[in-house]
Amino acid sequence: MPLRAIKLAPSILAADFTRLGEQVAEAERSGANRIHVDVMDGHFVPNISFGAVVVEALRSVTRLPLEVHLMITDPDSFFDEFVAAGADSFLVHWEGNNNLHRTLQRVKALKKRVGVVINPATPSALLEEVLPDMDLVLVMTVNPGFGHQHFVPTTLPKIRRVREMIERVKPGCELELDGGIDETTAPLGVAAGANVLVAGTSVFGNPSGVAGGMNDLRAAIEQATN
Ligand code: DX5
Ligand code: ZN
Repeated sequence: MPLRAIKLAPSILAADFTRLGEQVAEAERSGANRIHVDVMDGHFVPNISFGAVVVEALRSVTRLPLEVHLMITDPDSFFDEFVAAGADSFLVHWEGNNNLHRTLQRVKALKKRVGVVINPATPSALLEEVLPDMDLVLVMTVNPGFGHQHFVPTTLPKIRRVREMIERVKPGCELELDGGIDETTAPLGVAAGANVLVAGTSVFGNPSGVAGGMNDLRAAIEQATN
């Protein structure tokens, strides 16, 4: 897959919240393609993060698409609020949703992009029936809930299976990875078929700064794909 096709989505979960606007602006200047916003409710995952007010604040500091990863028990109840705040796309989990098709239709009715997320233990085959209704698939490469975790290597064969399914069922659907993405794991994920990478710690926690983190990731992907 050519380098230009790989998109980077910095996750603000790892940002310095006292300087969130500056950090997101720096990510944008460094070539970020979208901003990933992790919303957690303390029920769906054992952690609480932030909600639509943060999306609203980000909307005023960046022109990049704001991608909202909903790790909450009842995503359907919150789409309107996030759309009003400026969200451009939603990532909803397969796990815990008994009416996933309805959820996807709700997002499409709001004219926003939608992706389905699967956790490390969830098989890729479950996506096949809903794939035609999706703009992207997100394969979690850690268990959701926290930043700064280690990439789960057993997700790599699954990423390859999702790529095969996308080519067969819905070419053009994006394949995104989330969790533990750094200079070592980014090339592995891209080689397996991903074209969008979420990165929190490796961008916002990089000792050489946000621009340094973005550059290191791009360089690692470029080296591995040439
Ligand atoms: C985890 C979140 C991730 C997280 C990634 O539940 O969905 O988006 O911010 O953080 P890193 O890149 O540090 O693993
Ligand atoms: Zn996420």
